[in-house]
Amino acid sequence: MKRILLIVGGGIAAYKACELIRLLRRAGHAVRCVLTDGGARFVTPMTLAALSEDQVFTSLWDLKDEAEMGHIQLSREADLVVVAPATADLMARMVAGLAGDLATTLLLATDKPVLAAPAMNVRMWRHPATVRNVARLRADGVTVLEPDDGAMACGEFGPGRLPEPAAIAAAIERMLAPAAAFVAQDLVGRHAIVTAGPTHEPIDPVRYLANRSSGKQGFAIAAELAKRGARVTLVAGPVTLPTPGGVERIEVETALQMAAAVDAALPADIAVLVAAVADWRVETVGQKIKKDAASAPELRLIENPDILARLAADPRRPSLLIGFAAETEQVMEHAVAKRSRKAVDWIVANDVSGPPGSGVMGGECNAVHLVTSAGVETWASLPKAEVANRLAARIAAVFAGPRP
Ligand code: C5P
Repeated sequence: MKRILLIVGGGIAAYKACELIRLLRRAGHAVRCVLTDGGARFVTPMTLAALSEDQVFTSLWDLKDEAEMGHIQLSREADLVVVAPATADLMARMVAGLAGDLATTLLLATDKPVLAAPAMNVRMWRHPATVRNVARLRADGVTVLEPDDGAMACGEFGPGRLPEPAAIAAAIERMLAPAAAFVAQDLVGRHAIVTAGPTHEPIDPVRYLANRSSGKQGFAIAAELAKRGARVTLVAGPVTLPTPGGVERIEVETALQMAAAVDAALPADIAVLVAAVADWRVETVGQKIKKDAASAPELRLIENPDILARLAADPRRPSLLIGFAAETEQVMEHAVAKRSRKAVDWIVANDVSGPPGSGVMGGECNAVHLVTSAGVETWASLPKAEVANRLAARIAAVFAGPRP
């Protein structure tokens, strides 16, 4: 059980705060609500009190509240402060450090993590002032969720809708995770595409060409990026691994399907292409090839598109493009050459011919070299989850600081 202080701002989406309270209560958390003057125009204190089964606080000047429950104590007793909906006005006041009402006083006085779920008209969300304010809040350590995209109460369309209560609740759970599992939410607002697994290239309707890729490394990277708050599109070849939490999985079989799925997922800030894409496919695939034919069949292969190289040349090229290189000899030399040939930012290279525990395909561990413009780093053999964790931290470092 955790204690959540929920600040309900003034916006038509305030009604969704009611559903959020229900979800948090059902998950076993205590919720205490603070309602701004604007918020009180959309939901009543009585509704919030009934759902939270607690007193609702509205005014800094309510002496009774101050006597029994000072505003400092309100935030002291919470594990997490959540602002939902976070209006443009409320966020601007948070940025300025204003403290003219109970909500902003609490936000200025708190030393607890703060999560803000914005909701506003699309043009307000895109206004340079709001863009600046969101960047400032994130730099100040506030986790600001990206609003949803879609139809708005005002009849317009675009980003600015309050994220669904279930998505806010999931973000809250991530922030409440035990300290050991705490992961900085430093990729919130970023979109990452990850490819993983092998591709299957049909020979006929029942046979295919494949490789030994298990998908484990790519899935682990997708999981780590999602844990840091990125929106992750995982384009996965045919593997049976479970989909990591918070990741959108698109299943494909062939290299052509993978190329199309990556294209459809653009634009993205980050692309990590881990998949072992088949270099060739069978030129023509007809009916099942019969064994009793006079001679063994001959397969004519043609080249598959190089998804990584295409992405490097695309006008929508993600600002951080990372390729993998599975090599069996002269691993570092080939990786350095591949980085410049494919015009990618980083190459993660591993020796797939090595002994168990190095980087052999399908294994649990990976010994990699990270090739960047600064040179080559050699990492010790690590479990694939740990390689993913370190790589995600390096990716997050690239995007650290105020957003453009
Ligand atoms: O040149 P090579 O196939 O070794 O390059 C490997 C890198 O390129 C990996 O990141 C892999 O995901 C990507 N790749 C691709 N499309 C292909 C072949 C490789 O995206 N057809």
